Amino acid sequence: MCGIIGYTGNRQARDVIISGLKRLEYRGYDSAGIVIGNGSIQLVKDKGGMANLESILPEMKGQYGIGHTRWATHGPPLKKNSHPHLDCKEEIALIHNGIIENNMALREELIQRGHKFKSDTDTEVIVHLLEELYHGNLEEAILKTVARLEGSYAIAAIHAKEKGKIVGARNISPLVVGIGKKENFLASDVPAILEYTDRMIYLLDEEIVTLLKDEVKIMDFQGKPVKRNWQKVEMNIEGAEKSGYEHFMLKEIFEQPDVIMDTFIGANLNTENGYSLNLKPDTIKIIACGTSYHAGYVGKYMFEEFAHVPTTVEIASEYRFSSITTSNPLIIGVSQSGETSDTLVALRIAKKRGLNTLGIVNIVGSTITREVDHVFYTRAGLEVGVAATKTYITQLIALLALAIKIGVAKETLGIDDARYLSNQLRKLPKHVRTILDGSEQIIQLAEEISKSKSMFFLGRNMNFPVALEGALKMKEISYIHAEGYPGGELKHGPLALVTKETPVIAIAVKDQTYEKMLGNIGEVSARGATVIGIGTEGDTELPKYADHVIYIPKVPPLFTPVLVSVVMQLLAYHVANVLGCEIDKPRHLAKSVTVE
Ligand code: G6P
Repeated sequence: MCGIIGYTGNRQARDVIISGLKRLEYRGYDSAGIVIGNGSIQLVKDKGGMANLESILPEMKGQYGIGHTRWATHGPPLKKNSHPHLDCKEEIALIHNGIIENNMALREELIQRGHKFKSDTDTEVIVHLLEELYHGNLEEAILKTVARLEGSYAIAAIHAKEKGKIVGARNISPLVVGIGKKENFLASDVPAILEYTDRMIYLLDEEIVTLLKDEVKIMDFQGKPVKRNWQKVEMNIEGAEKSGYEHFMLKEIFEQPDVIMDTFIGANLNTENGYSLNLKPDTIKIIACGTSYHAGYVGKYMFEEFAHVPTTVEIASEYRFSSITTSNPLIIGVSQSGETSDTLVALRIAKKRGLNTLGIVNIVGSTITREVDHVFYTRAGLEVGVAATKTYITQLIALLALAIKIGVAKETLGIDDARYLSNQLRKLPKHVRTILDGSEQIIQLAEEISKSKSMFFLGRNMNFPVALEGALKMKEISYIHAEGYPGGELKHGPLALVTKETPVIAIAVKDQTYEKMLGNIGEVSARGATVIGIGTEGDTELPKYADHVIYIPKVPPLFTPVLVSVVMQLLAYHVANVLGCEIDKPRHLAKSVTVE
């Protein structure tokens, strides 16, 4: 969602804010803006991304200010809807991430009292409320204002007359304070300010923070002071650079052999007691969104195979509508960011229902990790490309490791079998490297696919969610319409759309689904479709059915989703690259979705 940054100190705030906003652009990039305080309010904002904002930015002198990159929720991406928003007197400037759910009622009330609105946003009500409730002290005005707000938000504000002061508040949407030497920072996430400090204070829900250059004060929404120490973060800034790759997405795809190993080591399967785990659920429910949902869907097959635990997968935003609870369930939330509102809220509902919760999360210290009963970290490092790649692959590794551990705990998996599986897991980085080395063939196929308007991805069993993920990757970055289907479902509708214009990517690896997948390839070939088969190395049969075959190394069946997914990522990336798309920042999307 939207990116927020604030700075107060001895530097020129403009430079710190602009560099931070560039790192935050993956959170939203349809408009951007900055306000610098210097006895008055200097505001520059516009629709478009950071490159546009920089091109219109005048010299701005001042040592405190706030900046914002927007992902539109209320009102189209226009200059008037860009943040920061100002009050009528143009003394208070405010930025916001999230949604104010009671904004319509507040807006009417404020208009009746004479406030003039300049934008279509929900955010603007906050700054008008602040104007009414301001009596010389910004944090007191914020304290009174948040009492009127419903919804999820992180906000930051400055007042022209309160030099050097920034006030922020958090309810659900993330906000972090960076502690420097005679300077302090505020941001929606760590990478924005990591260049300047690694000492962070994570704000909790319903907290207000006041920053001066040499002081940070926190209070809760009741006005009670809160004491909290800073934590050192272990992320490194190089992770946020492209290191010679054309796009972050490609860099992150190529980092996968390393991060698979990191997640494997973190899962502690290489030690004898690494198998012991005190979790023996009777059922598992996995809740997640987007790509994480697809990882969770693959996880279902892992838990059922290794631990014999019946597992269901639910889209997080749908979980709130279901009321059935099985006995002794484990609720697993999968989220790379650890901040996705839908997943967070679903986990909170599960906790309210008294259920045991576990988070599979990439970002250390994120909100989900603080709220669940157990945390299993993926160790993908910082992922900047909006389309998840290495975070997804490490989710698959984490799910595999967890399924093995629960299998051992429930004695459905013998220790020797568990050892065999972890030895196979250890070999996965080498196999991923083999696929990455074979990129040339995929680049050539991408040329051909890039001419199509629509395509299908087919898979069965554990490779059905992989087909869903392959289609999602393709549509989100190349904008080619793509659908993932279980092979058997094809004849119940989608086949009507298959022609020679619709390429089909068919996952036909050597497992129990192989023969049936050959049948599906026959069905689509008969309708003229060009078929790209993804098969197991050494399979000489598949080329007789498919027009092209991309081979993956032979691994145990439940490990194939990892390798097939890497093929799909490369395919989507190269198609989008041929088409000249903005790969790291696909239109309308954001990396961390902190609205429901
Ligand atoms: C957004 C991102 C996706 C991601 C989804 C869930 O839509 O663009 O890449 O899969 O959110 O995010 P999470 O952080 O919970 O994994």
